[in-house]
Amino acid sequence: MAFDIGMIKKVYQNMVERVDKAREITGKPLTLSEKILYSHLWEGNATKAFTRGKDYVDFAPDRIACQDATAQMALLQFMQAGKLKVAVPTTVHCDHLIQAKSGAATDLKSALDTSSEVFDFLGSVSNKYGIGFWKPGAGIIHQVVLENYAFPGGMMIGTDSHTVNAGGLGMVAIGVGGADAVDVMAGMAWELKFPKLIGIKLTGKLSGWTAPKDVILKVAGILTVKGGTGAIVEYFGEGAQSMSCTGKGTICNMGAEIGATTSTFGYDASMERYLKATDRADVAEAANEVKDYLTGDAEVYANPEKYFDQVIEINLSELKPQINGPFSPDLATTVGEMNEKATKNGWPLDVEWGLIGSCTNSSYEDLSRAASIAKQATDKGLVTKAEFGINPGSEQVRFTAERDGILKAFEDLDATIFTNACGPCIGQWARYNDPKNAPKNSIVHSFNRNFSKRADGNPNTHAFVTSPEMVAAIAISGRLDFNPLTDTLTNKNGEQVKLDEPTGWELPPKGFDVKDNGFEAPIADGSGINISVSETSDRIQLLTPFKPWDGKNILGAPLLIKAFGKCTTDHISMAGPWLKYRGHLDNISNNCLIGAVNAFGKETNKVLNQLTGEYDAVPAVARAYKAKNIQSVVVGDHNYGEGSSREHAAMEPRHLNVIAVIVKSFARIHETNLKKQGMLGLTFANEADYDLIQEKDKFNFIDLMEFAPGKELTVEIEHADSSKDVVKLNHTYNAAQIEWFRYGSALNLIKSLQK
Ligand code: F3S
Repeated sequence: MAFDIGMIKKVYQNMVERVDKAREITGKPLTLSEKILYSHLWEGNATKAFTRGKDYVDFAPDRIACQDATAQMALLQFMQAGKLKVAVPTTVHCDHLIQAKSGAATDLKSALDTSSEVFDFLGSVSNKYGIGFWKPGAGIIHQVVLENYAFPGGMMIGTDSHTVNAGGLGMVAIGVGGADAVDVMAGMAWELKFPKLIGIKLTGKLSGWTAPKDVILKVAGILTVKGGTGAIVEYFGEGAQSMSCTGKGTICNMGAEIGATTSTFGYDASMERYLKATDRADVAEAANEVKDYLTGDAEVYANPEKYFDQVIEINLSELKPQINGPFSPDLATTVGEMNEKATKNGWPLDVEWGLIGSCTNSSYEDLSRAASIAKQATDKGLVTKAEFGINPGSEQVRFTAERDGILKAFEDLDATIFTNACGPCIGQWARYNDPKNAPKNSIVHSFNRNFSKRADGNPNTHAFVTSPEMVAAIAISGRLDFNPLTDTLTNKNGEQVKLDEPTGWELPPKGFDVKDNGFEAPIADGSGINISVSETSDRIQLLTPFKPWDGKNILGAPLLIKAFGKCTTDHISMAGPWLKYRGHLDNISNNCLIGAVNAFGKETNKVLNQLTGEYDAVPAVARAYKAKNIQSVVVGDHNYGEGSSREHAAMEPRHLNVIAVIVKSFARIHETNLKKQGMLGLTFANEADYDLIQEKDKFNFIDLMEFAPGKELTVEIEHADSSKDVVKLNHTYNAAQIEWFRYGSALNLIKSLQK
């Protein structure tokens, strides 16, 4: 069974009790976001009112979803925890590693050839530990989650930023790093700063060419890529209720593009229809019984300014189609105003490709509305000017769309139907042989992100984000400034024709259908399954537990690098071509800190090897120390480790024998990741002491044996001229986290508790 109705009923039972309690404790009516947060507290019933944007709170999510790129290290780590099964229902989805080239059949086959060891590994680990496995070609993680697992009022985490898509079905769904997912899989709590709340009131109703995508493109234009940071965006109002469930998913999906923690909508009739259409009438029935708990309190929506930190109102009846880009998803342009803007900025007006798909816009409704435009082109004798590529969101969507003639409408325009996978959305698109030197051009797509090089690796590709129906219209016209509301096109007979407004179905009139949805349920008892990984594999490597602390002060640890200025997780563990080694810690460690600027010499990836006196690459020097069993130290500036939550940025230095990272300040998630990997994440008590660090320094941690919560540590810094500085260091380790350090990692500790 794809979902567990018993678990969902239990969540609703808790919700009734806990929401009432939270209302009493906070002494106010509650938003939907608060209801979901307060009903998923690790401690059960709330005992205090949390301060938004301030308090760190432990939660107990209901589900976890992982995609194939991030699942590799997450599962490798989970295997270290010594558990028989995952503690929380979990699924793995193979969608990121399939390149779009010639079309679904050949592309899928070639992905199976190239990445079979990764897929086989993920499949067998899933089977062993009770994880549901969605095979390559089954669909894009967030579409599959919406169709099978998301439920109103639930809380889920996923190792992908667009996990937030499930807000379309009334969840609080949040993208996290692998280390967080592993904690929850292993039965631990998940910590989150209690979010701020942004309320978006939707009035009016969408019509004509305007689609749910335009709502979030408009919101992105208002809030910009940072405007949602640390907040949950909650949509409400009659306009919200008038939209389909998958349309709500689109809006929540792109909440990631405004930096929001997540976005959500209250339970309504569109969600009930969607649940029933996707074979979950029992979930709808259970939700109907507690529906007042699955939406914000009436008083909150009547006086939103009183209860949200920020309120925005959008009238859907006045909203016009938007085209956002290039290079940033918040650069909003209303259709009809593009010519002037593009001309002024030198954006190519000729459009070469129109792409429909991604987790943002690949539902049945999306495809059916875009297909209604494609069909008109054929019927009205138009010739498509740009090329067309389609990635259906799931096999269920693809199968049903094929049955209903939707895919044929695209194929009649010579569209290529790619695999049900991410494809061009994550740069898995064989568009060019030499993307770096490819020409300047424009493309339009229905995806969420349009940063330089994201789709095709070409820095000269100007990618614009819009709704699927607008992608279809623009691809047919071949013009970025085409306005289907006013403009005509010349057909084969030289006649001027106009495209009519798109039409479509919210849900398939004949119901969804699928032959093989690509799901593999795990066996009941996987304890006998042996996970074998070839020693010669360069993609997957089983982890070896990090060594526990020997209980002694650490003396004579050389400086590996003193990072100068900004040092994000990208500087510590670069992405790009390194992504393919995400499941192989030793191989990916060859990118460790190669992007960080060395404070001595101001160059990247060039540091002094204190053993030889020579300069070499950071990973090479770290390996040289490791070979002699020497632990090293990294020093950094402010906000060290900001950026993504990827755990590789902590695991790689740890693997290369770095024991301490001493900085002016940390990005909190990275600091926690260092702690989880059994390292010392420390801050200078006096920031100016950063300036004392010299290139040939060695560090003596002289009171590590008294490591205790709230007590500063002392490090003696030995300089090359034998002089010494004694520096005080702060830390934020609590007693449990000090145990992680003692045991060598949080997972080592969990494993020891199993015995
Ligand atoms: Fe995949 Fe792009 Fe979504 S990479 S998960 S389709 S954002």
